[in-house]
Amino acid sequence: MEIIIQPTADAATQVAARIIEKLLREKPDAVLGLATGSTPLPLYQALIAMNLDWSKVTTFNLDEYIGLPREHPQSYHSFMWENLFQHVNIQEANVHIPDGNAKDIPFFCRQYEEQIQAAGGIDLQLLGIGTDGHIGFNEPTSSLASRTRIKTLTQQTCKDNARFFGSEAEVPKHVITMGIGTIMEARQNLLLAFGANKSKAIAEAVEGPITSINPASVLQMHPVAKVCIDEPAASQLKRADYYRWVYDNKPDWQTF
Ligand code: GLP
Repeated sequence: MEIIIQPTADAATQVAARIIEKLLREKPDAVLGLATGSTPLPLYQALIAMNLDWSKVTTFNLDEYIGLPREHPQSYHSFMWENLFQHVNIQEANVHIPDGNAKDIPFFCRQYEEQIQAAGGIDLQLLGIGTDGHIGFNEPTSSLASRTRIKTLTQQTCKDNARFFGSEAEVPKHVITMGIGTIMEARQNLLLAFGANKSKAIAEAVEGPITSINPASVLQMHPVAKVCIDEPAASQLKRADYYRWVYDNKPDWQTF
């Protein structure tokens, strides 16, 4: 794991934006795994401002609520088009977001996995983290080998996400999410977390044992996982000074 601690969320966002910019310049037909939530929003704004060429890029989103109409303002479909896709030259056919209204969801999930494979696999998977350590919507106790499937949200996640809806009762309780096994197959993972409310989940993910109780901790097993965080999110890390030292002394020749 590479732990990149930046003074502010803005600075951490810029680091993440440069990582994605580099990938898109080196590999214009890259396959990106994308995330929703408030964390990646400034990153999407930064990427839009960079005027990159998205014409050959393929994307797969991590997750979607089940049963929420696609046009609902809080569907991840709406989120992605509003906050990123409509502002860049991506081809609609290259955008993949789980369909929370699919008639046969298990079939849809299998197809989603096949589409990822057919696209050549995900080059870079962007991740946020829930306060309970979830990645995508893989809640605690998710199998670390899981594939794209239906999940039931925890009450904590419904509570956390209620701020986007009128009330907690309006948050759908069921979702489709890429599995942890799916995420682990991405060639690179880039996890972003900002704010003190993420510090416990980050400390457990980075310095705790690998456990499905904190699904993000599985990234310790990933060969190319970057964790890009601001100081408040880093505040419970015991070895923060070491991570800063390593990053500050990173040689130019080190590609990862
Ligand atoms: C949601 C998403 C996750 C996201 C997490 C954190 O539940 N499914 O992909 O990482 O919440 O969201 P935020 O970035 O708003 O804190």
